[in-house]
Amino acid sequence: MKLKFQLFLLFSCLFFIHCSNKDSKEGYKNGMVVSANSLASQIGIDILKNGGNAFDAAIGVQFALSVVYPSAGNIGGGGFVVYRLNDGSVGSLDFREKAPSKATRNMYLNDNNEVYIEKSKFGHLASGIPGSVDGMVKLHEKFGSLDWKKLLEPSIKLSKNGFKLTKNQAISLNSVKESFLKLNDSSISLINKNDWKENDLLVQNNLYKTLERIKNDKRAGFYSGETAQLLLNEMNQGNGIFTLEDLDNYNSIWREPIIGNYKNHKIISMGPPSSGGIALVQMLDGADKLNVYKYEHNSKDYIHLISEIESRVYADRVTYLGDPDFFEVPSNILISDQYLQNKFSTIDLNIKTPSSEIKEGQITMNETEETTHFSIVDKFGNAVSITTTINGSYGSKVVVDGAGFLLNNEMDDFSIKPGFPNMFGLTGGEANAIEGNKRMLSSMTPTIIEKENELFMVLGTPGGSTIITSVFQTILNVIDFNMNIQEAVDSKKFHHQWSPDVIVIEKNTIKNDIKEDLINMGHKFNERSSIGRMDCILVNESSKLEGGADKRGDDIAIGF
Ligand code: DON
Repeated sequence: MKLKFQLFLLFSCLFFIHCSNKDSKEGYKNGMVVSANSLASQIGIDILKNGGNAFDAAIGVQFALSVVYPSAGNIGGGGFVVYRLNDGSVGSLDFREKAPSKATRNMYLNDNNEVYIEKSKFGHLASGIPGSVDGMVKLHEKFGSLDWKKLLEPSIKLSKNGFKLTKNQAISLNSVKESFLKLNDSSISLINKNDWKENDLLVQNNLYKTLERIKNDKRAGFYSGETAQLLLNEMNQGNGIFTLEDLDNYNSIWREPIIGNYKNHKIISMGPPSSGGIALVQMLDGADKLNVYKYEHNSKDYIHLISEIESRVYADRVTYLGDPDFFEVPSNILISDQYLQNKFSTIDLNIKTPSSEIKEGQITMNETEETTHFSIVDKFGNAVSITTTINGSYGSKVVVDGAGFLLNNEMDDFSIKPGFPNMFGLTGGEANAIEGNKRMLSSMTPTIIEKENELFMVLGTPGGSTIITSVFQTILNVIDFNMNIQEAVDSKKFHHQWSPDVIVIEKNTIKNDIKEDLINMGHKFNERSSIGRMDCILVNESSKLEGGADKRGDDIAIGF
């Protein structure tokens, strides 16, 4: 009898597990949040369950990541929102950082015109004026449906009471301890003198107070009053150049998204000052013109063609892309059929074309993916795609004394000297030269895709220059290779950015004989342990939401 009962329990359990797996395989219908951190995804889902829409959830997740994902989540950085409402209307919000008004073209060069390599990456001069708080306030004013204060409360609680570090986070924080100590007091909450371990509690009291001010005073809680004063004090003692007017004048901007097509899909992505949308639409057009779907996925021919497409697109980025408020970006021409026809007609299936003579940059960045992307769909059918960053891992490494948040090192995204590679090996010229109040060019590519006029995918990733190519390949994986969204995210990625003239590829993507063949065609390779941290949502054939959360990180999809 006892055994029978145990068997009954066992079968019930198995049945339950089977059903819940089946449910999740079929997808969710009421909403989904995919982000880099489980606490942040959960906060977003709770907001959706409490009747909030995708914008409310996005605001909750952005602030949550500033607490629980300090390497990239932020209030001291910036980013981009691409959205699609349930009525099919689309838009985008640019909350990218701006150069301080005192920034000058040659501010990172010495008298001999040589680059001070560290200054655009590390310390007070590396930061642009943060845009995240203004961006979230604007998003809320236009689309929010729940009380602003309620959206911040869960994050505020986590900053005050602390949260448990994941193993990856403990390792990551320990790895930057020395850098933190060069610029900050040893008492900052991100430093543990005994080193961090998994499950240690990270409490952030100063950040808590700053978030309280933002909760109570919205924009003014950050760009004026006590937070602004703490920020200016920090700049004064570290020889930074922010002014109160810079903070006061910061404005995020609603912009038209870039619209393109791939087969019967509509691509909605971020326009300048991100290069992401234009470059993505160009790459997809190249994939269409060259019929890349005919080749085996990640085969010799596929890798050759995709790299040739990517390198030609990146060549444009260097010359034509920058902040549209300062430089006339020929967006329409760059994505026009005629222009792209010429561009891709030089691709030969058998021979690699060498990149032009622009001095090769070195990819000096280490392999961290320290921007972060999150994708949200609500039960009403609204979709929000946000990529946000402080640029490098933990940004400039400066924690604002008394205010507890990290400042970005986004100034390195400018072309600090023509032809000189930034931390992602990207070069630039006039279009992306430094100027006071200008926005630095980005590669962030928050994207939404429609199929037959219905919402189909929401996607994006961190990864510096590899962002665009990761988004590009993930789209091809789904549309051309029929992968489900998790497979498309998991699938190995590779990347070519024209200069340096090399394919960056994830380890174990291809067998040695394929690599040899490609080398014989003229390609060079650089291996990395990982490329991209795609966090995506796909609406499947039964109109249910499927999540693709990147296993290269702690990323997680939660649906209900
Ligand atoms: O805006 C950009 O393109 C860069 N600041 C993004 C940085 C990034 O993705 C860092 N991750 N590796």
